Amino acid sequence: MPDRIRVNAPGGGYDIHIGSVLVEDGLSHLRQTVGVARCVIVTNTTLEPLYSQVLKAALPEAVIVTMPDGEQHKTMDTVGRLYEAFVRAKLDRAGVVIAFGGGVVGDTAGFAAATFMRGVRLIQIPTSLLSMVDSSVGGKVGVDLPIGKNLVGAFKQPDAVFIDPTMLTTLPAREWRCGMAEVIKHGLLADSTLLDPRMWAPERVPELIRRAVQVKVNVVEADPYEQNVRAHLNLGHTFAHAIEQVSGYAWPHGEAVGVGLVAAARLSVAHGLAQIDIANQVETLVAELGLPTRIGELSPEALYAAMSTDKKWAAGKSRFVLLRRVGEPLIAEGIDRDTVLKVLQGLDS
Ligand SMILES: NC(=O)c1ccc[n+]([C@@H]2O[C@H](COP(=O)([O-])OP(=O)(O)OC[C@H]3O[C@@H](n4cnc5c(N)ncnc54)[C@H](O)[C@@H]3O)[C@@H](O)[C@H]2O)c1
Ligand SMILES: [Zn+2]
Repeated sequence: MPDRIRVNAPGGGYDIHIGSVLVEDGLSHLRQTVGVARCVIVTNTTLEPLYSQVLKAALPEAVIVTMPDGEQHKTMDTVGRLYEAFVRAKLDRAGVVIAFGGGVVGDTAGFAAATFMRGVRLIQIPTSLLSMVDSSVGGKVGVDLPIGKNLVGAFKQPDAVFIDPTMLTTLPAREWRCGMAEVIKHGLLADSTLLDPRMWAPERVPELIRRAVQVKVNVVEADPYEQNVRAHLNLGHTFAHAIEQVSGYAWPHGEAVGVGLVAAARLSVAHGLAQIDIANQVETLVAELGLPTRIGELSPEALYAAMSTDKKWAAGKSRFVLLRRVGEPLIAEGIDRDTVLKVLQGLDS
C-alpha cells in the first residue's frame, strides 16, 4: 500500500503519494487524477530517454514535451516554448500538466501551468531527491531572470504529487548528495531522526523521504504564503545563494546548501545563540555525506556583498535563519557585517 500524506493548502489541499507511480496502485491514482483531461507531460532531455517508454505505457494519451536539462534553462524563454507546445497539444482550460523531473522541470513546467490560460491543473512527479523532499511540495513555482534566481514566480498548488523512490536508482550520486543537504536541513529544523546516518541506508530511503517531506508539509501548512515560519526553510540558504551567485553557478545548489548549513550553525554560535556542539555536529554530518564544508577559493567579501542583495534582507538589514538547537530555528536580523565575515573567513580552506 503506497504511503499517502494529505496536505491542507489554500484552495483545498492535495495528496502526496509515496510508492510506485508507473505501476499498480500508484498508476491507478495517477490515471484517476488525470481523468479524461488533455494531458501534457513536461520532462527534460536526460529523463526522456530513461522514462518515456514507461510514461507512454502508463498514460498513452498524454503528449510528452521535452525541455533542455539544466538550471540555465529555467527561464521565461523555456516557459514561452512550453506555452507553444501546450497549444500544439490542444491543452485546454480543463487540461493537466504533469511535471516529470527534478526541481528545474517542476518549477518551470509548474510556472507554465500556473499561467497558461490563467492556470491549468498541475501534477508533480519529482524524480530527484531534492525535488521529492523539497521543491515539489508547497506550491512555489517560478523561473530565473538573468539578474537573479527565482525572481518570477507564482503559488500554484498541485492536484497531487507522486513520489516514486525507485526513480532514484538512475539519479547520479552527486545529485543524491545535493538532495541530502535539504534532508539534513529538514532534520535540523524539525526531525532529528533524519540526522542519524542509519536513516540514510538504501533500504530506508522511502521512510527517509516520507519524514523529510512531512517536515516541509508541516511548515507550508502553517504558512502557505511565507509570511512567517516558512522562512525557516531558508536555513543555510542565504549563504548558499551567495555561493551559487559568486561562483557563477559552478556550485550546485545542494553543495552550496551543505556549506551554508555549516555557516549558519557557526553563525548561530558566533551570535551567542547556540553551543559549539551544534556547529560541530552539522559539520560532521555534512562531511559524512561527502558534501563540501568549506567555501574554497570564494572570497568572503564577495560572498557578503552577494548576500546583501538578498531579496529577504529588508532595507539592507541582514536576515539569517539560525538555530538555537536542533528543532529550534529562529530568524535573526541585523547581525553585523564583521560577525558574518569572520564566520566566512573561518570557512576558507
Ligand atoms: N519550488 C520550490 O519550493 C523549490 C525548493 C527548492 C529548490 N527549488 C529549485 O529546484 C531546482 C533544483 O532541483 P534539482 O536539484 O532537482 O535539480 P535539477 O532539476 O537540475 O535535477 C538535477 C539533475 O538530475 C537529473 N535528474 C533528475 N532526476 C533524475 C533521475 N531520476 N534520474 C537521472 N537523472 C535525474 C536532472 O536531469 C538534472 O540533470 C532549483 O532550480 C531550485 O531553485 C525549488
Ligand atoms: Zn534549497
